[in-house]
Amino acid sequence: MFTFSPIGFVKSPYTETSKIPRGCGAKHDAEGVLEILPEFAPGLLDIEGFSHLYVVWTFDRADGFDLVAHPPTDEKRPHGVFATRSPRRPNPIALTVVELLGREGGSLRVRGVDMLDGTPILDIKPYLSSIPEEKLQRGWLKEAEDRKAKGE
Ligand SMILES: C[S@@+](CC[C@H](N)C(=O)[O-])C[C@H]1O[C@@H](n2cnc3c(N)ncnc32)[C@H](O)[C@@H]1O
Repeated sequence: MFTFSPIGFVKSPYTETSKIPRGCGAKHDAEGVLEILPEFAPGLLDIEGFSHLYVVWTFDRADGFDLVAHPPTDEKRPHGVFATRSPRRPNPIALTVVELLGREGGSLRVRGVDMLDGTPILDIKPYLSSIPEEKLQRGWLKEAEDRKAKGE
């Protein structure tokens, strides 16, 4: 067993899940603030140089899990939960890449939040990817996007 405690909380414009964009083509450009608790704020030293961050957080308002999910990007077809980003997972851990807009003390202004207001943050890391675009495969999502583009 592991026990984690939040390093901070998200200030988000979203108070209801229904307001968070979802499905094919959803744009995540909402701005929010990652409020880091004073005891952890020294850990933000030198974070300003990174344009994007990974935010590891918890789906604290998810209730249980399903091993097979029906994501909004492909509602008619089931996919294994580990092939999706469903909130209903055995360990309710979430990962969002946000753009860092600025820092005021322990507050990070960011763009790209998809979490509810008050969501606990478990960790923050600089976003770094060395995988070339042509090597990335989008699995069932690409097929769902292609079907949507054809109007199917
Ligand atoms: C599809 S998940 C993706 C989250 C993250 N980007 C990831 O990939 O792990 C995003 C959805 O999680 C739900 N959600 C957001 N904040 C939540 C919270 N604190 N507890 C439970 N569900 C939440 C909302 O329905 C939102 O649309």
